[in-house]
Amino acid sequence: MDFAGKRALVTGASRGIGAGVARMLAAQGAVVAVHYNHSASAAAEVLSRLTGSGHALVQADLSQRDAARAMVDAAASALGGLDILINNAGIYTEHPILSASDDDWRAQWDAIVQTNLIAAADAIYWAVRVMADGGAIVNVSSRGAFRGEPLSPAYGASKAGMNSMGQSLAIALAPRQIHVISVAPGWVDTDMATEHLDGPAGDSIRAQSPYGRVATVEEVANAVVFAASDKAKFMTGAILDVNGASYLRT
Ligand SMILES: NC(=O)c1ccc[n+]([C@@H]2O[C@H](COP(=O)([O-])OP(=O)(O)OC[C@H]3O[C@@H](n4cnc5c(N)ncnc54)[C@H](OP(=O)(O)O)[C@@H]3O)[C@@H](O)[C@H]2O)c1
Repeated sequence: MDFAGKRALVTGASRGIGAGVARMLAAQGAVVAVHYNHSASAAAEVLSRLTGSGHALVQADLSQRDAARAMVDAAASALGGLDILINNAGIYTEHPILSASDDDWRAQWDAIVQTNLIAAADAIYWAVRVMADGGAIVNVSSRGAFRGEPLSPAYGASKAGMNSMGQSLAIALAPRQIHVISVAPGWVDTDMATEHLDGPAGDSIRAQSPYGRVATVEEVANAVVFAASDKAKFMTGAILDVNGASYLRT
């Protein structure tokens, strides 16, 4: 794919999938705004190793209501505009319905829905105001939207909301030739999954896929980068499963 001259904001690019997407986009010619929240030194390390020049760092805490606008503005100003938005930043925390306190239940719903869904919606709202026609938006969703997340129902709901939002906005943004695609991974080998993969449930998690393993960051980044490319323009509205046949939707 050729991303020469394309300007991309990748949220949550300090680690994991976002860092992989930033690396892959830069390697194919894009200039990238590497967004982070707490992991400043990891983000600086990602930035320093990107192919090419003109990349930028952008900090924003997306759990805060107005952070997405400042993040998009900072990225567009650093890159001189925006062609691609990758909504990848996200959190997963557990709040089982039968044991969570009511305060914890409410707090986790607020934090997860704000960070995973509302911040992504706001980022799209502001991005399309600075984005050239013909741009691309990719939302990193999750298999959990379909398979269920019994220990983190707010996470499953946030990702289902993201999928639905992507379908709606694919139609709404088509007049601007902006395509919108969601990528829904199963388990991926990142910090978010480490505790589970290294724990007693690790083998059963790997066995969910007939490959007997979870996805690599590169496998997910490949799908995200393809979705962001002009080659995926007519796939707008799609939700791409990257889950190693661990959950087959009908
Ligand atoms: N790993 C999996 O098994 C898996 C499976 C399905 C879907 N996903 C989805 O894939 C995406 C990336 O996940 P990952 O596994 O790469 O996660 P990760 O390794 O835990 O990295 C999470 C990223 O999100 C950023 N982030 C977290 N909270 C934030 C906040 N309040 N404001 C701004 N940024 C924030 C982090 O920034 P800092 O470190 O700088 O704070 C980090 O860059 C997420 O949306 C996740 O839901 C992951």
